[in-house]
Amino acid sequence: MSKLTLDRILQSQGFGTRKWCSELIADGEVSVAGKAIRDNRFAIETDGLEFSIYGEPWAYREHVYIALNKAANFECSRKTSHHPGVLTLLPEQFTRRDVQPVGRLDHDTTGLLLMSDDGPFIHKQSSPKYHVPKVYVATTHEPVTPQLVTRLLDGVKLHDEPAPLAAVSCRMVGTYQLEIVLEQGKYHQVKRMLAAADNHCIALRRSQIGQLKLDELGLDESEWCYLDAAQLALLAPA
Ligand code: URA
Repeated sequence: MSKLTLDRILQSQGFGTRKWCSELIADGEVSVAGKAIRDNRFAIETDGLEFSIYGEPWAYREHVYIALNKAANFECSRKTSHHPGVLTLLPEQFTRRDVQPVGRLDHDTTGLLLMSDDGPFIHKQSSPKYHVPKVYVATTHEPVTPQLVTRLLDGVKLHDEPAPLAAVSCRMVGTYQLEIVLEQGKYHQVKRMLAAADNHCIALRRSQIGQLKLDELGLDESEWCYLDAAQLALLAPA
């Protein structure tokens, strides 16, 4: 249980500086239980708090955990160069509260992207130490073969990587499609592994992280949702 003043609550949720939030409160833009609160020092229990701001409902969250169905032509980096950033697909409050992608997908890779403002969570999910498997479906230029699968499972040597990198698992799912599971997230890893195994990746989709499956979230392209405790539990390493 923790109580915070209303101005701090609004700031923590990404509604602006404390001064700006105080002005919103003084202007009567913030209501709790249907009643406008104009005192910015009003202390409220944050657990389960729901309020409305500019007439729109908002549920307090200490941290946010988000799944996005990333479309192609969005960049994960903060300083984008050629395409809009993935943060443009989320409410602007999330940028202000420093929500970031958990790891990166290339601009042309689609599928499941986690985002959060919880530093330890981001670290745990992205670190190879925690062995969170990530499942990708790669569409290839040349037909996939059992030999290709074996090479990816045995490990392929990539330029500037000291040791060969291997898939945790790999299987053919179509004439030109491969499902490949990785525990690391090296730069362009799937594409480079396929190139090193004498094929070429022409499309890539991340379908699953841990046991969390994108298809079960029911998100259209570019849609996002909050993850609840049960869904977050599916991300834990086995
Ligand atoms: N591997 C790649 O090559 N690209 C991605 O976006 C993710 C994994």
